[in-house]
Amino acid sequence: MADIRVELAGLRFRNPILTAAGPKSKDGMTLLSAAAGGAGGLVAKTVSIRPAEVPRPNMSALGSGRVASQRGLLNAELWSEIPLERWLEREYAIALSSGLPLIASVGYTPEEVAELAPRIVDTGVHAIEFSTHYVGGHRKIARALREAADVPIFAKLSPKVDVSDVAKEIEPFVDGFVAINTYGPCLRIDIETGKPTLGSDNGYGWMSGAALRPIALRCVADIAKSVNKPVIGVGGVGSGEDAIEFFMAGAQMVQICTAAILKGDTVYGQVAKEVKDWLDTHGHNSLEDIRGIALPCLRDNKPQKPPAEVDLERCTLCGLCPKSCVYDAITLDRENEVLIIDAEKCAGCGLCVTVCPQHALSLKS
Ligand SMILES: Cc1cc2nc3c(=O)[nH]c(=O)nc-3n(C[C@H](O)[C@H](O)[C@H](O)COP(=O)(O)O)c2cc1C
Repeated sequence: MADIRVELAGLRFRNPILTAAGPKSKDGMTLLSAAAGGAGGLVAKTVSIRPAEVPRPNMSALGSGRVASQRGLLNAELWSEIPLERWLEREYAIALSSGLPLIASVGYTPEEVAELAPRIVDTGVHAIEFSTHYVGGHRKIARALREAADVPIFAKLSPKVDVSDVAKEIEPFVDGFVAINTYGPCLRIDIETGKPTLGSDNGYGWMSGAALRPIALRCVADIAKSVNKPVIGVGGVGSGEDAIEFFMAGAQMVQICTAAILKGDTVYGQVAKEVKDWLDTHGHNSLEDIRGIALPCLRDNKPQKPPAEVDLERCTLCGLCPKSCVYDAITLDRENEVLIIDAEKCAGCGLCVTVCPQHALSLKS
């Protein structure tokens, strides 16, 4: 049985799945509910000197029904609407009663975080993550926090910066990185009213969820290649397989925000279980076996050659690959229960390999 416990910056986590700053970490009781849902550790909603004045509406799904969790959200939520004093007196203590490591999130200027950090650390919070989402100025904030707080410090980076450059610049001041925050600004229009779906300035919002995952993975890999400090991945994790991709890109742990909003708190425990099951079925004892295994290939990637090959043991003749083969190279022979790949026509584009739900197709190096 694979061991999925993680030790990071001196903190011990029962599994590698954390909450992320957002509505599912908005106060102590919400964080307790995430702990009950199986999270391995807790990251609280970002706090600042003043409570945020949040526009309404501030969340818009990128599709209705089941489609929403396959795509994601736009949000205009800003930071916590709860005054700092209430976090200090009540909310962190409630979250700490879970017994899980608790990471507070702070923003946004060097002066603000220097004032906030010692007061937050006094409550017993185990680590601090800082967000530079709206203002930038990473180096000054990292340095101010390092001087103000004697707990592990994590820098949460936006996909809009060159994450490698920023990570190298602030590496001396932090214990690790969190990548990434939401991407934007983005826009949705309600076609029944002709108005933006969000109540923010210009109706703009920030994208999260499945659509963000490839950007987040690239950022995690870029940071993991550039510095020698741990990276926590965040962006579009909704299943164990999503999390495994992040670990292979070099992440130590992952955070979940949007999938917990759309699917509920049990998603944390479910993803942790799926990670463990995946490691077991692939013969791995721990996350260390797979951590960063994609990174050497990213430095020196080898092209693969056509034609695609099919593993007939795995193929269920579902018919998805012939439909999406833009070169008409794949035929489904239902009578003889076989999938035929025309080697002359196959251009090696690789789409079928990623479309197949059974992982039955491959290209060889
Ligand atoms: C509604 C909402 C509110 C968020 N609030 C914060 C926040 O206060 N601080 C922060 O650093 N990130 C915040 N985020 C960003 C998330 O923590 C996370 O980085 C991002 O959503 C990508 O992860 P996901 O795809 O799992 O949602 C928020 C995201 C959403 C959707």
